[in-house]
Amino acid sequence: MNFSRRPHAVCIPLPAQGHINPMLKLAKLLHSKGFYITFVQTEFDKLQISSFSTKGVDNFQFQTISDGLPPDNQRGVLDLPSLAYTMPVHGLKSFRELIQKLNSADSDSPPVSCIISDGVMGFSLKVAQEFNIPGFIFFTLSACGVLGYLQFEKLIEKAYFPLKDESDLYNGYLDKTIEWTPSMGTVRLRDLPTFLRTTNPDDIMFHYNMESAQNALKTGNLILNTFDDLEKEVLDILKSKIPNLYTIGPLCLLSDQICEPELNSIQSNLWKEDEKCLEWLDTKEPKSVVYVNYGSFVIMTPKQLTEFAWGLANSKFSFLWVIRPNLVEGGSEAISGDFLNEVKGRGLILDWCSQEKVLGHSSIGGFLTHCGWNSILESISNGVPMICWPFFAEQQLNCLYLCKEWGIGMEIDVNVERSEVERLVKELMEGEKGIQMKEKIVELKNKAEKATEPGGSSYIDFDLLVGKLKGEIP
Ligand code: UDX
Repeated sequence: MNFSRRPHAVCIPLPAQGHINPMLKLAKLLHSKGFYITFVQTEFDKLQISSFSTKGVDNFQFQTISDGLPPDNQRGVLDLPSLAYTMPVHGLKSFRELIQKLNSADSDSPPVSCIISDGVMGFSLKVAQEFNIPGFIFFTLSACGVLGYLQFEKLIEKAYFPLKDESDLYNGYLDKTIEWTPSMGTVRLRDLPTFLRTTNPDDIMFHYNMESAQNALKTGNLILNTFDDLEKEVLDILKSKIPNLYTIGPLCLLSDQICEPELNSIQSNLWKEDEKCLEWLDTKEPKSVVYVNYGSFVIMTPKQLTEFAWGLANSKFSFLWVIRPNLVEGGSEAISGDFLNEVKGRGLILDWCSQEKVLGHSSIGGFLTHCGWNSILESISNGVPMICWPFFAEQQLNCLYLCKEWGIGMEIDVNVERSEVERLVKELMEGEKGIQMKEKIVELKNKAEKATEPGGSSYIDFDLLVGKLKGEIP
């Protein structure tokens, strides 16, 4: 095969579903623009993944590096603090060896021309530097989330961090000297990324995420899965700090515009998808079903699961509820026979689904979500309003924007109670607020579609990014 003319992009995501999905979409987009792709997975996802295969697509390969996680961390929910210790050592060494191999004379791929590093896999940028290969950062979270991480240095300077006491979180507001967008008004400490929530000055996750965000400033290249009309004010701030900022989202829509159809065969699920739910949805009325999914990291207590269960049951609406095998501490036995009898015929529970297909189904009327950034973009792209139960990382900030700035979400208290779930589900599906949210999210969906069509802001930015990665734009 003649590889010599293809630029070669090495894409390296954090080994977590919410990071793999957008990185794989970006990889497929670049492949569609003539790139050879090496997609890097770690031992963690290799053990979990049900369908990582190139299925005969040329010029696309998967490679595995070590993550250094001990065997008992290799299954279940990714242990981020352990990973923050092991990746900069084991991941770095293993990634360096991979790049050496890819660039060796007997390699069967073209020389590596750029490395696209997940914002939280900063060690790969060190390797890019060592080999003198251009390094680009792709933060898979919201622009408001990145702005949140960029405040961490100031939080130390202004003595917000470490928290003196956990209760500071619930009483505290950011002072005016900490940069935020004018329309956002006051930001509560508890809206900031959860890595702030510690009294330990050496907390690994706080420092790891602070450094990750600083890397974006240092390299001056940043790719974001968002679109200008959605996060304009925040993006204006980021653009003033980072010269080459590419906003190319929602990737789920841009992929529909640009990706070669044969790339659909390359999938990236850490859990096996249940396809039967789509047939079940076919039997339901338009906009009549609540979809409930908490993404890939959330862990909840049996008590919380029980409150969600009875809230859904008492709402009397139909629901499709994804309960990941490792969602509940100690297992999901809290789902009782009484509950299952109560919701027979109108409640479907499964382990994992094809979320994009579910959100695109005409019978879905609302989404109860943990506010992961991909889930939000997928919901916007399908015009589905949300109920928010943020869990960790920047999800609280995403929730703030959803509810306060964009008016397309309603928040459930962290101490979830069945009566509140019931009330909010009813409001979402048939209340005045639900109707308003629906109107707003359809407007945003239209804007997202415009952004990703030829001539739209994300479409243009993607072309600029391709030019930059190919070295055609200085
Ligand atoms: C989170 C959030 O991305 C992010 O905001 C935070 O910084 C850390 O990680 P996650 O919990 O995985 O990730 O949520 P989300 O961003 O919503 O990504 C989940 C992805 O998995 C989505 O693309 C969704 O479509 C997919 N998914 C989820 C399925 O395909 N099926 C499911 O049943 C559940």
